[in-house]
Amino acid sequence: MGGLISDIDIIDNSAEEVSETKHISIDENTGKTKKLYIESYGCQMNFSDTEIVTSILKKEGFDTTSDIENADVIFINTCSIREKAEQTIRKRLQLFNVIKTKKPDLTVGVLGCMAERLKTKLLEEEKIVDIVAGPDAYRDLPNLINQADEGLKAVNTFLSREETYADISPVRLNSNGVTAFISIMRGCDNMCSFCVVPYTRGRERSRDPSSIINEAKQIFDQGYREVTLLGQNVDSYNWNPQGGKHETASIDKRTGNAHINFAQILEMVAKIDTELRVRFSTSHPKDITDDVLYTMNKYENICKYIHLPAQSGSSRILRLMNRTYDREWYLKKVSRIREILGDDCGISSDMIAGFCSETDEDHKETLSLMDYVKYDFSYMFIYSERPGTPAAKKFADDIPVQVKKKRLQEIIEKQQALSLQRNNREMNKVHRVLIEGYSKRSNDNLQGRNSANKVIVFPKKNYKKGMYVNVLVESCTTATLIGKIAT
Ligand code: SAH
Ligand code: SF4
Ligand code: F3S
Repeated sequence: MGGLISDIDIIDNSAEEVSETKHISIDENTGKTKKLYIESYGCQMNFSDTEIVTSILKKEGFDTTSDIENADVIFINTCSIREKAEQTIRKRLQLFNVIKTKKPDLTVGVLGCMAERLKTKLLEEEKIVDIVAGPDAYRDLPNLINQADEGLKAVNTFLSREETYADISPVRLNSNGVTAFISIMRGCDNMCSFCVVPYTRGRERSRDPSSIINEAKQIFDQGYREVTLLGQNVDSYNWNPQGGKHETASIDKRTGNAHINFAQILEMVAKIDTELRVRFSTSHPKDITDDVLYTMNKYENICKYIHLPAQSGSSRILRLMNRTYDREWYLKKVSRIREILGDDCGISSDMIAGFCSETDEDHKETLSLMDYVKYDFSYMFIYSERPGTPAAKKFADDIPVQVKKKRLQEIIEKQQALSLQRNNREMNKVHRVLIEGYSKRSNDNLQGRNSANKVIVFPKKNYKKGMYVNVLVESCTTATLIGKIAT
């Protein structure tokens, strides 16, 4: 799902949506008395939030556990982006219910986007739930747990205009010790008509740049070698020293302090160390600037990869989606990327098949846009109507599911052909790879990514994760490049 999701789901072979990724907490034993089991679904920002939640609860005397049966508190950090994501959560709640019948003292909390969307309704619909906490309510969790301990149902779905959890050091979970994610902003002010995120995550706000830089420095000192700056729309990052709100002027007249935009924060992070790779996600085609592209070009350690979701190739559908750009605008942005960063820069997209009133012609325009851009990979979805969104209110969800599936299948096949074509270009070339760990298939091989975000697998020998190596690519599949260390 989107650029904010881990690479595991990159390309799905069936005409089904990519599955929602699940992350489960690790085992810790620092002698604390209470055990927290937490699992997360949805985008990378949600995983990042889980690390903040864990940090908050550790201060309250919790250790994390991966053994659900052993937990005093179960938290599930949820996603509402498509109906299927919510169905997955409801199934998990049924399982938690079985555990709770055996252990009545167990506290079950629903966090994140589904908590925010359904609020107290979730307590009525899912009797097992004790705590409902939206994405801006995590500082209140200790208090909500206390209420639950007293036998009360506890809800906080207040959305903030300021909260960025800037001062909280996330506890890195499921980490390979090499790559880390840092949220630089929260919320979204765009109103893409299909999307539930503005309702579940609230207004857009940017995080204090000094806290971002400190966190990046800290993880570099801990041995991490790559950081991904996260936001629903990173190009509209705009820190105003007067309170982090958006202003158009670049200098604050009273204080003389400069506003910081995305190109500037990107540069500040890149300057921390040339050995620290910098990535970012997601870029919105309406907001990405030449400044950002020039900054990427200027710093070797800013990875040459842009996740630039198009959603559709038809200008008529893009208008209905309220994406605020059309096909021509999108293609111009792609040309600028190619002019400034060249052909090697990786570009990926999100695509929605079967949006309201989409015709075969509109669908063909999506396929032809893909051909034109030659995406390295895409995240591809069937349109799923979300209650309360502008599209749900204004348009009929009128494309039959079989047609949606057929179109999605065509989009997937197109992407697979393009991925293979793009990967074939890399054959017999040497790539600088940051090693992230063992390959998925064998402990005799290691894997990492090149600057353009392509996964590269090669024999292990004496190399270790966290090292940079040069790999000569000798073969490829649609999803992976395979090679050997170049001397
Ligand atoms: N902020 C990012 C996307 C976040 S959501 C952006 O603007 O690009 C990730 C992706 O989920 C979206 O890009 C979109 O392709 C998909 N998505 C969002 N709402 C959807 C819906 N109702 N049905 C199907 N896919 C959806
Ligand atoms: Fe949703 Fe659009 Fe915001 Fe992305 S930019 S989170 S698709 S409203
Ligand atoms: Fe992310 Fe899903 Fe919420 S994609 S912002 S967790 S609705």
